[in-house]
Amino acid sequence: MNASALPGEDAAPPAVRLQLDADGRLRHLLTLEGLSRTQLLDLLERAEALRAASDNGAKPLDLLHGRTVVNLFFEPSTRTRTSFDLAAQRLGATVINFDIASSSTVKGESLIDTVHTLEAMRCDAFVVRHREAGTPARIAARLRSAAAVLNAGDGNHAHPTQGLLDALTLRRHRPDFTRLRVVICGDIRHSRVARSDAQALVALGAGEVRLCAPPELAPDAEELPMCRRFHDFDEAIAGADVVIMLRLQKERMHSAAIPSEADYFQRYGLSAARLARAHPDCLVMHPGPINRGVEIASAVADGPQSLILEQVANGVFVRMAVLAELLAPRRAP
Ligand code: CP
Repeated sequence: MNASALPGEDAAPPAVRLQLDADGRLRHLLTLEGLSRTQLLDLLERAEALRAASDNGAKPLDLLHGRTVVNLFFEPSTRTRTSFDLAAQRLGATVINFDIASSSTVKGESLIDTVHTLEAMRCDAFVVRHREAGTPARIAARLRSAAAVLNAGDGNHAHPTQGLLDALTLRRHRPDFTRLRVVICGDIRHSRVARSDAQALVALGAGEVRLCAPPELAPDAEELPMCRRFHDFDEAIAGADVVIMLRLQKERMHSAAIPSEADYFQRYGLSAARLARAHPDCLVMHPGPINRGVEIASAVADGPQSLILEQVANGVFVRMAVLAELLAPRRAP
């Protein structure tokens, strides 16, 4: 895992401890690692309450009225960035979508100086996506105010709101996780989603989490010890109740030699024929963006077992719940 420091910065502090206050309450959301089942369920229940309020026609809530949320995205994003923006707006916050390319970052201002500058303007939360694992934790450790940091994906380390929204989506279809056999298949080595999904599923009591990847894209041996490992997708998917497919993270591949896309699809792609090896009611998930014909066939991505667009919809409610928890922790819903 890439945990190297940014130029001039310290090594990443431990996200697991840093995100909790002295009473064990969430102060930032940096990772799902170490969060209890109760903490995860509280966030999921809060997301459900916010969904219910939205379904009942509630207009934008004022839970975060007067608060300012900054989206600091140093990597591209469609789903996460847009849904954090919508979530904050629907809670009544002011949102700044910080434009890195036109900011003083290009004049050499460091990330920490940028954050301190925004803190001086009384920004209350920083939603951070960065290619370097540990960057959100590094920011959280250097804050000078009571602002919150929300990890929107850091390298291959964590994507905690994706883990939560995937759990929320799955729970709406399969409320009892205890007998679920869940397969996560694809480029697990480079995937922050795989790590956060596995942590959420295990904490919420999933019966079995199977990781399936080509040897060159499998995680290190000591990582994710609570999961079963496979290299043969036909074996891994047999009898599965849920399949979570992952994109090849080419932007994070330095040396891993992967076969051609056609070859990859042949061995690790989710085709209708391969899905037929799973349980007949098997659910199909993918965090997006999807690469059709590389890790998943269009017929499956758009088929009746696919939850892909439900995942997207749930992302807004989960991000509302997390923002509310961190910035308005004691107010309903
Ligand atoms: N799933 C996800 O993080 O998608 P984006 O990169 O579009 O935000």
